[in-house]
Amino acid sequence: MGNIDPAYMQSTEHRPKSSAFVQVDEIPTIDLSESIEQKLVSNIGKACEEWGFFQVINHGVPSDIILKAENETKKFFELSMEEKKKVKRDEVNATGYHDVEHTKNIRDWKEIFDYHVENATQVPSSDDPHDLELWTLKNQWPKSLPNFRETMEEYAREVEKLSYKLLELISLSLGLPGDKFHDCFKNQLSLMRLNRYPPCPFPDLALGIGPHKDPSALTVLAQDEIGGLQVQTKSLGDWIPVKPIPGALIINLGDIVQIWSNDKYDCAVHRVVVNSQKERFSYPFFLFPGHHIMVKPAEELVSEQNPAKYKAFNFGKYYANRTQSDFNKQEAENIQIHDFKILD
Ligand code: OGA
Ligand code: NI
Repeated sequence: MGNIDPAYMQSTEHRPKSSAFVQVDEIPTIDLSESIEQKLVSNIGKACEEWGFFQVINHGVPSDIILKAENETKKFFELSMEEKKKVKRDEVNATGYHDVEHTKNIRDWKEIFDYHVENATQVPSSDDPHDLELWTLKNQWPKSLPNFRETMEEYAREVEKLSYKLLELISLSLGLPGDKFHDCFKNQLSLMRLNRYPPCPFPDLALGIGPHKDPSALTVLAQDEIGGLQVQTKSLGDWIPVKPIPGALIINLGDIVQIWSNDKYDCAVHRVVVNSQKERFSYPFFLFPGHHIMVKPAEELVSEQNPAKYKAFNFGKYYANRTQSDFNKQEAENIQIHDFKILD
């Protein structure tokens, strides 16, 4: 080697972008078996503040329960369209099957099966604040798969347990009591979603899901080994792939925690890119409060110096708006938390 300027050696500008030397950012991985609670809480707090997205390992959801759920999901999507349409979503019941065609939207290159965590879930019939009618929704289960319901209910119970544990750690990381938000989930609207992204012949033109934030408190997501989920960084707006780690679960903050934290935490924008060769499966669990809950910044985090950044709003009406516009694929953008922002 000749004489190379050490400053040149340290700079990265001359290195090709695709080279192994380029440091690619990655969302943090947190080991939930960490025995020192203070350390765990501080790791979670840091991940929430910097990313709003992280993966967890040693999370306590048994691997055989995950595997069974994955196998049943594949069996469901392999059913004939006729069978799948027997449990199709409609204007009243948002649970069940939705196909790619239905969305009429090339951006959402996927098919879905949704079920609530509770056997019967009360949801407002519309987003009109004067309309007090509630619908009681029951999950739709495919009759031709005898083990599907039990397997999926078992999986949902496990991730629900994990989501409460995470919410407790997140509350502690904000300096709040661990059980601060427990009561909000008494009549929860929490939802499990099974996603199948079919291979897409024009991957550069379509997305599995377009850029969005989740309307949940938090989301717990299992994914297979294919990859495709990407998180947008807050600083540069570039897209960072969420690397599949066998056995890990992905956690992202949703709108509700962002508001509870009074914007100390920000839920990240994410999307899914499609694959031209391979199908991909993912399994998000959305932790949603009850329909009657008023969402507003935690009073402990609000002061004269740090006033509330959001007006209180009813979660059920917010959810009804998001679900309805999702069903009708309205042109108008659906309601977002910035609509409740208190402007200075
Ligand atoms: C979602 C979502 C990511 C994925 O369903 O809200 O962001 O990897 N899914 O499927
Ligand atoms: Ni999402």
